[in-house]
Parts: sequence; structure tokens; C-alpha cells
Amino acid sequence: MKDIMAAPFVREMCATTANMYRLGWDERNGGNISYMLDEKEVKEYLDIDNVIRTIPLMGVNEVDIDITPLVGKYFIVTGTGKYFKNVEADPETNLGIVRIAKNNIELLWGYKDGGRPTSEFPAHMMSHMARLKVDPENRVVIHSHPTNTLAMNYVHELDEKKFTHTLWEMCTECIVVFPEGVGILPWMLCGTSEIGKATAKKMEEFRLVVWAMHGIYGAGKTLDETFGLIETVEKAAQIYMLTAHLPRVNTIKDEDMVKLVELFGVKYRKDFLDL
Ligand code: 13P
Ligand code: ZN
Repeated sequence: MKDIMAAPFVREMCATTANMYRLGWDERNGGNISYMLDEKEVKEYLDIDNVIRTIPLMGVNEVDIDITPLVGKYFIVTGTGKYFKNVEADPETNLGIVRIAKNNIELLWGYKDGGRPTSEFPAHMMSHMARLKVDPENRVVIHSHPTNTLAMNYVHELDEKKFTHTLWEMCTECIVVFPEGVGILPWMLCGTSEIGKATAKKMEEFRLVVWAMHGIYGAGKTLDETFGLIETVEKAAQIYMLTAHLPRVNTIKDEDMVKLVELFGVKYRKDFLDL
């Protein structure tokens, strides 16, 4: 059996959480990550018949969701209440590797201090199910509290078209990186199945969903891709926050954005532009 601490997926989770912490996106226990693993890769590092303990299906609240499509799937997930700041130094306490069973979660590694998956597990699992229907290669869901994205929520209209359009205008490559735009949910109570269901509904259309005055969800094939999506939104939001109070002299025009999507050959939300 290989050393789990050297597993690429553990290393990648350490690197991603450390980057997110240093960028200031994930204060205290803010943010969470779930990353679907192949049974084959897990087996190289763990005895998959050795269940350390079982954990009730969902986070802190009772939830009424059907996660049958995920039964038997493996995930590495950040623990609830755990600080991204500490993951790199102690992955075995701050992360867990779990297998989804019919009525509970089977812990195969991690949460060494008796912990359990993020309280946002319902939203993560529902988002995985929604994204897998659109993209069978989707494996990652990240939730974070990026500073400028959050700041923008307080000063910009929370309309999907207007919010996306503003982000697209802030960096030339935004429309190429997230051509489908950004979905937005109003402020809702986190950790509940309601916000999970609403997030998953948006995830049928968007890989990025803003939780108003809370943070953002991103989904993608890899940790890099998903991190990159949130990073690009955050960069655009930063430019917006640096310039919103100043007179706008120049801007990227909608016709220019069309040239970009045509050059890169991406399908985009035409109705989010004013042509
Ligand atoms: P957890 O500590 O349960 O992951 O929650 C953090 C968070 O960001 C809630 O939205
Ligand atoms: Zn949060």
C-alpha cells in the first residue's frame, strides 16, 4: 500500500487550501472542497474494506435529498469547522476520504479528531449530481468567500445578466473562461438542503454560483480548473472594486467580447450581452 500522505489528491487538496487561505478567501473555517476520486486510485493508498466509522449522511441539519446517484462514490472532503490555514500541516485531521453509502457516509481515512465533512455537504453533493448530468467528467466542487467577489455583492445589482456582464468587462479573458456566466442566489441560510437544491438548480446552467453576501460555488473537472474559475471571477471583481467609484473612461465593448468568443470558439450566453 502506498503512503496516503504522498497521494496526489491529498497533496493537491493541501496546495489548493493553502493557496486559497493565502489569497484571503477562506478566513477561519470559511470555504469547503469536495473532490471525487476513482475507486482505483483510492485502492492504491487505502484498504477500502476498512471503514473507520460511519457518519450520518449530511452535515448539521436534517436533509431530505436523494443522493442515490452518488452511492459508492469516493470523495476527499474538507472537514466542518476546519481551517484551510491548517490543512497542509495536518491533512489527516482536517480532511477526510469518504464513500457514500445508502443511508450514511463511510469514513475510510481522516477526520482524526472525530470530525466530519463540511456542513455544506448537501450543497456539494447536489451540485456534483447536477454537474455530472451536464458534464460526466466533473469531479470538483469548491465553496469559498473571496474578498472582492463578496464586496461586489454589496454594491452591484445582483442580477445574473448585469453581474456577469460587469465581470466580463473587467478582464479580457473573462468571457472565455466563464462564457456561460455566473448564476446568483439571493441570501439564503447556509448548510440547509434548500440552499443545496437552489445551488444545484443553478449548476445545471452555470459552473459558478454566487451566494449573495456569503461567497461563491465553483464546479469543474479538476481542482485547478475549479480554482481557476473562482480566481478569474475574483480578479474581475477586484478590478471592479478598484474602479467602480472612479469615472469609467474606457471599457471592453460587447463587440470585442464577441470577437474573443469567436476566436476561442466558445459557446456563450448571447443574451448576457447587449448587441
Ligand atoms: P464548514 O466549516 O462546515 O465547511 O462551513 C464553512 C462555510 O463556509 C459555510 O458556508
Ligand atoms: Zn461559506
